[in-house]
Amino acid sequence: MTLTLNTQMKTTLSSISLALLTPMAALANDAHHKPATAETSTAQSAVIEQGSKLFQANCATCHGLNLQGTSQGPTLIGVGAASVDFQVGTGRMPLAATGPQAEKKPVQFTAEQTFALANFVASKGPGPAIPSERYLQGDGNVATGAELFRINCAMCHNVAGAGGALTQGKYAPSLGNIEAVYVYEAMITGPQNMPVFNDQNISPQEKADIITYLRYLDETPSVGGFGLGNIGPVSEGLFIWIFGLGALVAITVWMTAKSN
Ligand code: HEC
Ligand code: HEC
Repeated sequence: MTLTLNTQMKTTLSSISLALLTPMAALANDAHHKPATAETSTAQSAVIEQGSKLFQANCATCHGLNLQGTSQGPTLIGVGAASVDFQVGTGRMPLAATGPQAEKKPVQFTAEQTFALANFVASKGPGPAIPSERYLQGDGNVATGAELFRINCAMCHNVAGAGGALTQGKYAPSLGNIEAVYVYEAMITGPQNMPVFNDQNISPQEKADIITYLRYLDETPSVGGFGLGNIGPVSEGLFIWIFGLGALVAITVWMTAKSN
């Protein structure tokens, strides 16, 4: 009897401590380099404290003091560290002007401040964490990445990642020279009109392959001629054909008009 109770209590206790430890572990994981020790957790609360202050001063007017959201901005509970790192790290946040889409601007916070903000928001509710470095190296499979990109991303961002217009003044930006961490974070957080690609849709390794493909595009300058959307020699031939011919027609019209 006592034995059963003890075992039960133990199980309950360990699941409670597990539940308590998990968010800290997730946070420690974010810190990449820091091992999870008692020291780290004090450092961790200092980081969250710093993030809290930055948040009150720069974000709370729109997102609410308790992240609950206001008429000026959505709730941030559960958006995760990844979303904050993406939005602040690319200069989209803090939002300056309301428009169809949050624009990229010069980044306003240091990496350390962004990290603090991300950890503060993550401490208020679990959400996607900042991705692990091992998926950001650009050492995946280019061919798989190209195929995944064509299926999942090209309809908005164009096959060559050049970007494209969407409805109502929104657009999918060019993906040239975007840092790997922001590519990964965009996929797991789905900013604005972009869908979320969770690990069931596209596994972490497949995300690494997509990143590898984008890096390959960055490093492979388009060969010769004008950048006509990179659809190849046919379009370039057509360009010369139409404009060359157009010029001939224009000259003919002009000469006829003059002789009259
Ligand atoms: C002027 C108002 C305003 C300010 C200031 C502002 N935001 Fe935002 N924020 C918005 C609005 C509106 C959206 C949603 C629409 C969008 O993404 O364009 C948003 C979206 C976000 C998102 C994405 C949420 C999601 O669902 O993934 C994050 C994260 C975020 N803000 C963080 C911040 C942080 C951190 C700060 C302070 C450094 C900040 N914001 C300052 C208005 C604001
Ligand atoms: C339905 C259209 C759509 C699809 C599909 C889509 N995206 Fe996006 N994507 C967007 C929009 C819209 C934005 C701009 C969001 C913003 O500015 O907040 C965006 C932004 C991004 C950014 C941020 C770029 C920057 O300038 O900071 C990256 C990176 C990105 N997408 C990658 C991808 C990848 C990789 C895929 C496929 C796995 C994908 N997207 C699929 C619409 C899409």
